[in-house]
Amino acid sequence: MTGGATAIPEVQALLRVLAAGRDVAEMGTAFGETAATIAETARSIVTVERDPERVAVARERLAGLGNVEPLEGDVYEQLRGRGPFGLVFVDGGLRPVDQSRWEAILALVEPGGLIVKDDMSPGRPVEGDDVREFLHRDPRLAAAEILATHDMAVIVAVRR
Ligand SMILES: C[S@@+](CC[C@H](N)C(=O)[O-])C[C@H]1O[C@@H](n2cnc3c(N)ncnc32)[C@H](O)[C@@H]1O
Repeated sequence: MTGGATAIPEVQALLRVLAAGRDVAEMGTAFGETAATIAETARSIVTVERDPERVAVARERLAGLGNVEPLEGDVYEQLRGRGPFGLVFVDGGLRPVDQSRWEAILALVEPGGLIVKDDMSPGRPVEGDDVREFLHRDPRLAAAEILATHDMAVIVAVRR
């Protein structure tokens, strides 16, 4: 994270690759920096932010990008019934983690679609880590942990 709000460049670069040609949902727009990066390759991106001041900054940054739809409000309310998406970037609104949130996220993802969760400490055990337990053990997913930097990992899961 940079300034506590934006994915680091290594994660943005990974997302730009994984998003290519896909319809993407981003949970947590913040200031729209990563949405702008994803928009370079994605077919479309819907991005949701609940903080009105951040939404205003993001809308200014993303204005003119025809494949970006910035939405204001709670991500679960705004994305309910939308999709399916080829990639969901889980970067806000996950905590407190519970099964109903995972189910809502899974419902957004098409078969063969990806869930990307960044900001993970590398190499930690799955057991006892609520995010890893879901992404690595849910039988509807297959997941891999990828090092973005020496001290930051990303988990990428595909919906079977
Ligand atoms: C880590 S930041 C997002 C960074 C952004 N994805 C980027 O890389 O540029 C997380 C954001 O999620 C927002 N957020 C948290 N819970 C949310 C919710 N339930 N609905 C919408 N936004 C939420 C926060 O206000 C915060 O701006």
